[in-house]
Amino acid sequence: MDRESEELLKELCPGLEIPKSSKAWITRSNKALAKTTHTRDVYPVVDHTRGEGPWVYDLQGNQYIDVTAGVGVRALGFRHPGIIDYERRIQEFIREVPGQDFDVIPQTILAERLAAIAPGTHEKKVFFTTSGGRAVEAAVKSLIDTKHRHRFVAFRPAFHGRTGYSLALTASKHVHKDFYPQGLDVVRSPYPYCYRCPFGQKEEECDLECARYLRDSIQYEGTDIAGIVFEPICGEGGILPAPGKFVRELRKIADEVGAGLVSDEVQAGLGRSGLWWSIEHSNVVPDYICSAKALGVGFAFAACIGPAPMYTDWGRHSETFGAEPYVALLSLAQLHIIVRDGLLENVRNRSKQLLSGLRDIQGGSRIIGDVRGLGLMCAVEIVSSRDKMKENIDLRNTLLNNCVKKHGLWIIGAGRNCLRFLPSLNITAEQIDIILERFGNAVKDTG
Ligand SMILES: Cc1ncc(COP(=O)(O)O)c(C=O)c1O
Repeated sequence: MDRESEELLKELCPGLEIPKSSKAWITRSNKALAKTTHTRDVYPVVDHTRGEGPWVYDLQGNQYIDVTAGVGVRALGFRHPGIIDYERRIQEFIREVPGQDFDVIPQTILAERLAAIAPGTHEKKVFFTTSGGRAVEAAVKSLIDTKHRHRFVAFRPAFHGRTGYSLALTASKHVHKDFYPQGLDVVRSPYPYCYRCPFGQKEEECDLECARYLRDSIQYEGTDIAGIVFEPICGEGGILPAPGKFVRELRKIADEVGAGLVSDEVQAGLGRSGLWWSIEHSNVVPDYICSAKALGVGFAFAACIGPAPMYTDWGRHSETFGAEPYVALLSLAQLHIIVRDGLLENVRNRSKQLLSGLRDIQGGSRIIGDVRGLGLMCAVEIVSSRDKMKENIDLRNTLLNNCVKKHGLWIIGAGRNCLRFLPSLNITAEQIDIILERFGNAVKDTG
């Protein structure tokens, strides 16, 4: 940790002990923080004062190349010079009240900008909120409010958040759901997990058995569907890009029953797929797009882009920290940099390089069953033997450990037996080469 930050901490908390080792801090974190999703047996404590570009450091000064982008939050990497510069300039403004009860200009401009880059020429509205789950809940409440229906379609696997209505739509791991009452009626259908197609089909030849199953389910369970909520690239479930033909079929089903189509792009949106929104790869116009993670440039910020009207009356939905002007301006700065620096094109090019490199590594290994992804949202699936396609969770965990602890690759899992590659949108060709070299070595080390 740099000296200035250490002095600041000592000034803010007189008498504070600041040990240098990760181990000591992990003991303190274990004591002080509630159990959430920390994986303390894998990751050392991050030095929050040092990251730069794709590089992160632990307290001991070890350097790692990051392929998590802070789990999709740091779209431009750490300490992007352009963002720092805009941040300085934005701080010159008077920071006014959040914009949910009073009008402030930045939120209106950001809403106009998001509506303009969302697919479709219809009139759109934007609701600002503070997390991915809440962006999904904004869509759910809008659909209940405007359609007077409360039955939803969601998939398995699917991750839409851990609170209220969003948890009711989630079906990713039982640990998220056990004993918590579910707040919505959900018709659950299998997601097109094509590598492990639940209907035993091959993606190129299939007759969309998964969509047929959904059609049947609706007939059995209720056609009064308010909305179909799905991830165009299922993220937590294992980075599963939905085939375009499936997404187009979902649009048809939604239209047949008068439901809204909600594209949850909390992880996959805002340029990560190489287009602004990953649903654009299917040429489908959704009724709602949910965005979060990268949108707030490191701050808790999210948006739901929906149709007009989104709510039937004032006060049907609101949230105190709707669109703080500081964050809205920062978000506009990030959109500007993505366009100015041609980052959507960079994502498409780096994606080809990453996927082809991962396939080469797969060719020389028996433990990688599948390589898949769209844009810079990619994954490898770890198996015991490629022929048997038997998922191997222990081996995935060993590989994850080796990547982080032995090869300086800051990476996270996805699904039960996958590792996910989610580097920043401005990652360079040379940095992708480093990532591939480190990952290849970790694979050799493991299996
Ligand atoms: C697709 C998707 N939707 C919703 C969420 C929930 O976001 P949050 O944790 O900000 O509530 C996530 C989080 O990972 C996500 O990946």
